[in-house]
Amino acid sequence: MKRRQFDSLIIGAGGGGLRAALQLANADASVAVVSKVFPTRSHTVAAQGGMNAALANVLPDNWHWHMFDTVKGSDYLGDQDAIEYMCRAAPRAVYELEHFGVPFSRLDNGSIYQRPFGGQSQNFGGDQAARTCAAADRTGHAILHSLYQQNIRAKTHFFDEYFAVDLLKDEEGHVLGALAFNIHNGEPVVIEAKTTLLATGGAGQLYRTTTNALINTGDGMAMALRAGVPLQDMEFFQFHPTGIAGHGMLITEGARGEGGYLVNADGERLMERYAPKAKDLASRDVVSRAIATEVREGRGCGPNKDYVLLKLDHLGEDVIQKRLPGIRQTCITFLGIDPAEQPIPVFPTAHYTMGGIPTNRFGQVVTPVKDTPEEPVTGLYAAGECACVSVHGANRLGGNSLLDILVFGRAAANHIIEHLNEHRYHKPLDESSVERAMERLNRWQRKPCSTSESVSDLRNELKQVMEEHCSVFRNEEVMRQGVEKVEALVKRLDNVCIGDQSDVFNTARVEALELENLMHVALATMHSAYAREESRGAHSRIDFPERDDKKWMRHSLYSLEHGLDYKPVRTKPMSVESFPPKARVY
Ligand code: FUM
Repeated sequence: MKRRQFDSLIIGAGGGGLRAALQLANADASVAVVSKVFPTRSHTVAAQGGMNAALANVLPDNWHWHMFDTVKGSDYLGDQDAIEYMCRAAPRAVYELEHFGVPFSRLDNGSIYQRPFGGQSQNFGGDQAARTCAAADRTGHAILHSLYQQNIRAKTHFFDEYFAVDLLKDEEGHVLGALAFNIHNGEPVVIEAKTTLLATGGAGQLYRTTTNALINTGDGMAMALRAGVPLQDMEFFQFHPTGIAGHGMLITEGARGEGGYLVNADGERLMERYAPKAKDLASRDVVSRAIATEVREGRGCGPNKDYVLLKLDHLGEDVIQKRLPGIRQTCITFLGIDPAEQPIPVFPTAHYTMGGIPTNRFGQVVTPVKDTPEEPVTGLYAAGECACVSVHGANRLGGNSLLDILVFGRAAANHIIEHLNEHRYHKPLDESSVERAMERLNRWQRKPCSTSESVSDLRNELKQVMEEHCSVFRNEEVMRQGVEKVEALVKRLDNVCIGDQSDVFNTARVEALELENLMHVALATMHSAYAREESRGAHSRIDFPERDDKKWMRHSLYSLEHGLDYKPVRTKPMSVESFPPKARVY
């Protein structure tokens, strides 16, 4: 089998992976990036509205206000040391991007344009802030392409269209790379590395209606689970308030930031009822619940009363064309509606995995061993949506995702550079970990089927179950059934077969491997959600409508081997006073 050696392996070529790769390549480390799609097709490309940083270009701002908003937005489940670190690092992260060539939109005075986004305030909960740095409504696209070009210049090695199967370890359990396979010809390759960074993004494909690309199948999270690392806070899945109704495509929060607002069937501005001060720019969990409530109570629009309308036509064609050209095009293409003239039908859509692989703020993956303090897993790092550092807690603020991937991609790379200075030589792999990964890959060879389940049927059923049993509103009975149904689907995986027909390509093997990954992540999500008996952020229990800080201000941890465990929230910031939990009103 082919073997390649690098100082550092990065799995995933979105913003987190590429920011880390660039830092490493510029420090003269040999770095390989494995990506199952061509790098500029990674899901960061779809990020629209922008990236938060307290630059104060439009309104007064500072990192401490940003920190307060992020802690409040997280419903006090975010770790305050990591949040302080991220908010302080944000302005530098934006200026770095500017120097990498990101074409940010500009104000008349030439400085970077910033728009208001949900959950942002001045002066610790005062007036609306304008903190989101934007390149029109294609910010992720601009960032991803600039980072890719910088990596090409820095001579990062890309394994394009290679699928990472599983992590590889030495006999002491240190992570030393991964097994991947070339999707084009099916050839496996062992990539040995002194460090491995998981940057594989989220798991939005758990749901039927989602803003997420087909590639977002929780691959890194599932690889971590199978390597014995528990997943943290998986019950917190964000539903973006404004997906195109029935389809799920993202209509950026920037549309409301530019002055758009939601109306119900009676023409009322519905958010006045739910968030009298922030209205349409309340945080996402609040707006999503408001829309779902309007529909449940019969005030939805359309023949089936199953969506609300996002009005932008009052903004004028010039503003829409200058600030929101991408969503205008999306609406024209998919709905035949020009938002400069007609409102957009919207409904909450699965958007973001707040939970993930537990890390510290240096990007090191950490595992608690029962009753002992958590320890870094030597050689293993994670950054971006697949990680849980945790800066988003129970609900992420819009614009903090691009920030997270860039800040912690860079931080992880800096820690890796230190690690490489202390660990100069490759260590031998435990060959049994290669064999186990090969077994998983070989399970999905082309061969005649003796069973009848198909990958696509099972995947569709899983999405249906998640949508029906783990959505915006939850209760005991619905989630108990959800747990049973996901477990039954996992059992049926054994009956899945991809067949031996001549039209079975390696992409069918990828889809089967992705389905296994989704199943593992679904188990973590359903079990964690079922167990949490309170409402916090995106986890909204009808039967436990209040937040319960006494019992539940703690992170969940789900592992395949041990099930659920919990660990405390890091409430102590790095240098400032903690923000104690308060009632969360907008
Ligand atoms: O609405 C948006 O543009 C999405 C931004 C985000 O999820 O951060």
